[in-house]
Amino acid sequence: MSKGTFSVTTPIYYINAAPHLGTAYTTVAADTICRYQRMNGYDVAFVTGTDEHGQKIAETAEKNGMTPQQWCDSLAPAFKEAWELLDINYTDFVRTTEERQTRTVQDFWCGLYDAGWLYKGAYEGWYCVHEETYYAESDLEKNDEGEFVCPDCKRPVRRAAGEENWFFKLSEFQDRLLAFYEEHPDFIRPASRKNEIVSFVKGGLQDLSISRSSFDWGIPLPFDEGHVCYVWADALLAYFTGMGYDQIERGDEFERRWPIQYHFVGKDITRFHCVIWPAMLMAAGMPVAHTVFGHGFLLTKGEKMSKSKGNGLMPADLVKVFGVDAYRYYFMSDVQFGHDGSISMERMVQVYNADLANTWGNLVSRVTNMTTKYFEGAVPAASAGAESNPLREIADALYAEYDACMAEVDFTGAAAAVQKLAGRVNLYVEESAPWALAKDPEKADELAAVIYNCLEAIRIIALYMAPFMPNTSADVFGRLGLGDIAEVTDIEAATAWGQLPAGNPIEIGDPLFPRLDVDNLPEL
Ligand code: MSP
Repeated sequence: MSKGTFSVTTPIYYINAAPHLGTAYTTVAADTICRYQRMNGYDVAFVTGTDEHGQKIAETAEKNGMTPQQWCDSLAPAFKEAWELLDINYTDFVRTTEERQTRTVQDFWCGLYDAGWLYKGAYEGWYCVHEETYYAESDLEKNDEGEFVCPDCKRPVRRAAGEENWFFKLSEFQDRLLAFYEEHPDFIRPASRKNEIVSFVKGGLQDLSISRSSFDWGIPLPFDEGHVCYVWADALLAYFTGMGYDQIERGDEFERRWPIQYHFVGKDITRFHCVIWPAMLMAAGMPVAHTVFGHGFLLTKGEKMSKSKGNGLMPADLVKVFGVDAYRYYFMSDVQFGHDGSISMERMVQVYNADLANTWGNLVSRVTNMTTKYFEGAVPAASAGAESNPLREIADALYAEYDACMAEVDFTGAAAAVQKLAGRVNLYVEESAPWALAKDPEKADELAAVIYNCLEAIRIIALYMAPFMPNTSADVFGRLGLGDIAEVTDIEAATAWGQLPAGNPIEIGDPLFPRLDVDNLPEL
């Protein structure tokens, strides 16, 4: 029985370049929480996609000698391939150039037009094409040449001199938004991002231009043919499309899913998600997502990692070295979700060796080896010591701790809780010294109990590691003679102590995380 729906989105990524570690970071985080909540009994929807309209994409296509559509079609597979490589189990991938997105966007903005939330005017002001954002002059910075530059990407901004635009009456939402933040303390997380949004809204809101008339790469506004939708007024609605808003014969999917639990976004785009998007929804009479979680930036050598700065390594470069599961584990366990985090090759190797090669991998290998040696490769029946042992005590408390971390989107905490058990099993092996017990025929029951406890702890660790490292956990389940871990839909029940059947065949297999040759690492 499903516990209900659990729905998450990543940003709809610009299709100007293939995905890099920064975009992969959000996507892996969304996948990790979705995998967990599936194992926890929820009916999960996970929407990602590509943001394909707007001036930036049109200009990128032109520079590459293609039409915008050709450009998007040539690059979309790179996103799908990267997510496949990283084992991202999304439920929908929305390309904003799909027809269903056109239907959603036109339907939504026609509704707001009919309800009187839009008016036509002239936009006089500044625009950053790279960020696809309008800026007030007071927000801008100046470069060494004295030109106005974007406060975010530092590129020169362009002047839009009286372009005819349709405007959304965003300024009328100031009080409603402030009241909403007050009534929904979990809407903006982590809490540190909330003050910035509240003070921005308190400073007063400008009406928002939601159409462009100086170029045509976008979704046409049905009520004014010369206008295409502003790229953000299009992309935000991809969340609707992916959650089932436009089924031509709409079932109850959208109603069951909306409002969703989480929009995972980078901290640079929280304003769009915490100000513009909820105001659009309020105008349409629609409920707003429970939480916008604004994570931090990945930093390399102290700087935001981005492709345009030339420090953008691709996920595949790292997967080649570490494997996909270790890649996922590193980013989720070592970069606290919500904070900026420095990443480096040295640190990745350190985490790999400490947590994966020396702890988790080593544990599986030594215990399966001992089972083979002392019990002919079958799980021993545990007649003594199975009732109460130090591993069981930790395992029994683990669900509550792990689940609480996941509820806070604290991946680091959840991973640390599982590592604590893994570390304790290694220590337990040292303390109980099965190799000594094996020499004493009178200690046969004790030896069986020790090995049983270790194997059972490994089964439980594999379950909790599965959202982070799905392949390794599936592999470990296979080595324990267990069925398909992907079928688990009640992790709390599945991790209750004592379910590993005696007699199950145990396989040793290859090392899960072979030690790395640290001499040949690519540069980050
Ligand atoms: N197309 C918009 C989103 C529209 S959502 C309706 C967009 N796309 S993006 O491709 O530029 O960025 C997507 C996300 O990647 C942002 O949330 C951004 O914060 C994130 N990252 C880009 N570089 C990053 C790091 N170095 N570190 C972590 N995330 C970063 O914005």
